[in-house]
Amino acid sequence: MLIRREVPGDRAAVHDVPRAAFGKDAGPPPVEAVLLEALRECDGWLPALSCVAVVEGEVVGHVVGTRGYVGERPGVGLGPLSVRPEHQRRGVGLALVHTVLGAADALGEPFVALLGSPEYYGRFGFGPAAGHGIEAPDPAWGRYFQVRPLTAHDPAVRGTFRYAEPFDRV
Ligand SMILES: CC(C)(COP(=O)(O)OP(=O)(O)OC[C@H]1O[C@@H](n2cnc3c(N)ncnc32)[C@H](O)[C@@H]1OP(=O)(O)O)[C@@H](O)C(=O)NCCC(=O)NCCS
Repeated sequence: MLIRREVPGDRAAVHDVPRAAFGKDAGPPPVEAVLLEALRECDGWLPALSCVAVVEGEVVGHVVGTRGYVGERPGVGLGPLSVRPEHQRRGVGLALVHTVLGAADALGEPFVALLGSPEYYGRFGFGPAAGHGIEAPDPAWGRYFQVRPLTAHDPAVRGTFRYAEPFDRV
């Protein structure tokens, strides 16, 4: 498996990954696929944080981080993350998340926020966002809204996290 940045020729294959991962090969696309395409068209798309996993020349996994904010201060919102079903539970998701976190850290991003399972994301250093003074866009998300502080994190930045606009539509 190789992990690298997405390049223009990957676009169609990347588009198919959430559709397959979230179990809808036919019928209307799952919200994650719709979200991914809307994110790609929005101002918050961060090309350096769109990473693919490639096995034998095929894109089997994808993750993206997009621009979010706490007030005027930037951060990264993570997701969607998806791995094609036949490649799940082989470490692809693990490699993608480590890669996107390392890339965000190297770019000087201060933190990464996401809505997801604490059991899955805890291993990457994510913890309840409230513990870092960052509130979820929806308070009902509780402990499922998590933050991973990076090297440039400033603990003085406190407030409600705002995802890139397409997240508000799904
Ligand atoms: C969730 C997902 C991204 C994980 O990627 P993956 O490549 O399958 O996961 P990895 O092999 O890197 O997993 C490492 C560990 O994570 C845990 N894990 C994997 N999938 C999990 C799941 N669905 N729920 C809880 N824990 C999970 C396991 O502990 C696993 O280790 P194990 O196989 O020894 O038990 C992938 O399974 C997927 O795309 N699922 C469908 C879409 C989805 O639910 N996405 C969630 C993020 S939006």
